[in-house]
Amino acid sequence: MSVTSISSAQDRASASASASDSDSDSTPSADTSVELSIWPASARPAAEGDVTVADVSLTEAADRFGTPLYVLDEGEVRDRCRAYRTAFPDADVVYAAKAFLCRAMARWVESEGLGLDVCSAGELGLAITAGFPAERIVLHGNAKSPEDLYTAVRLGVGRIVLDSTPEIARLAEIVPPSDRQQVMIRVVPGIAAGGHAKIRTGTEDQKFGLSITDGSAQHAIARILAQPRLELVGLHCHIGSQITSVKPYVAAVRRLIGLMTQVRDHHGLELPQLNIGGGHGIAYRPGQDRLDIGALARRVHAELKDGCAHAKLPVPRLTIEPGRALVGSAGVAVYRVLTVKQTAGRTFVAVDGGMSDNPRPALYGVRYAPRLIGRRSMAQPCPVTVVGRHCEAGDVLADEALLPGDVRPGDLLAVPTAGAYHLSMASGYNLIGRPPVIAVRDGSARMLVRRESLDDMSRRDIGL
Ligand code: LLP
Repeated sequence: MSVTSISSAQDRASASASASDSDSDSTPSADTSVELSIWPASARPAAEGDVTVADVSLTEAADRFGTPLYVLDEGEVRDRCRAYRTAFPDADVVYAAKAFLCRAMARWVESEGLGLDVCSAGELGLAITAGFPAERIVLHGNAKSPEDLYTAVRLGVGRIVLDSTPEIARLAEIVPPSDRQQVMIRVVPGIAAGGHAKIRTGTEDQKFGLSITDGSAQHAIARILAQPRLELVGLHCHIGSQITSVKPYVAAVRRLIGLMTQVRDHHGLELPQLNIGGGHGIAYRPGQDRLDIGALARRVHAELKDGCAHAKLPVPRLTIEPGRALVGSAGVAVYRVLTVKQTAGRTFVAVDGGMSDNPRPALYGVRYAPRLIGRRSMAQPCPVTVVGRHCEAGDVLADEALLPGDVRPGDLLAVPTAGAYHLSMASGYNLIGRPPVIAVRDGSARMLVRRESLDDMSRRDIGL
């Protein structure tokens, strides 16, 4: 997908918003059956209420692989990677693996020319076993363990983003005397942005980064420059996640150019790189905003060019770290309905997954747009609460979702926009076992990650 087609997906979304449900209007729409604006671009309605993704029938996939099932459209991931590279031809585009990582995913982004952001020895190790080149990897983390740092140095990770003062000496100690490790420093620009309080990381009152305002960032920079085994190549910030406006990024760039100017004035060093993190918002329901990547590229480049010209600094090489925006819309979760329960005020549709494969509604109150698949229904859409099978009342997958009034046990529900921060945050709650992930491409499906079995889970339990 080109940059233009990302915008056209946006246009599709906004066009459908006026005709169907949106945040402010929960009136049942007359025809939700063709609403695929937030699905992978390859999604098509098919016979008997089925939907195909990359020409693979979701109902057939559910029969073949079982439910709950996560379906990942390889073409959608690759198209999004290409759209980013087109929009940011002179920048390093680094995929934030925390959104979703498996070996195939690492290979896809590698072959599209992206880098990889990891935040543990685990993510790093998996990427390396998939053949990801270490020099294109960036290591993050507010509290990196000794193992994280050792593994990163041993494997030759390209850049390590320092996030606290004690980490500076700890890292310097383990870099071999003959080497120099490239590092960046994560700073707090003091900007509030992001879809929920728990994912806002640009302000002072949270755990990431070093404050520019209270001088911690400047202090840490001096410490790094005093370490001969560390090479400070630039500044990093990540102001938050699920951001749908370009403005906070422009403000962050301005703030970081200010700090780069101080570094030049105090230390005589012109930093060659600038990493502005990820956080690019996507639509979880038809009609919701997403960040306009083309506009982001234009505005950030303009700000960098003007700001650096004004400060008489060379324009640094830009790095961006999108996670959700690369993989979110490529994923579809498929569940089977187990029970339908009417209470005085609500209809609860309970499925065979839940908060162990998608904790996002419980954590951030996110609302999804599930869809009945595999059967055509003439019943009027009704607002229902789609819940999981876990022992917790907060185990809600989709609040106020519109589903046909005759939804019943045995039905299949598909939840689009399930590619990011579902399985990467999946838990072992109630020992249900984490769902498998299949890749779909050109009409065929293949297993990427198998279902977690009772055997997998009980093998860890070695006590008596
Ligand atoms: N770079 C850094 C340093 C980050 O910490 C993150 C995300 C990203 C890039 C990628 O952000 P993205 O483009 O995916 O928004 N679990 C939450 C999101 C947490 C994001 C953590 N850091 C959620 O489900 O919304």
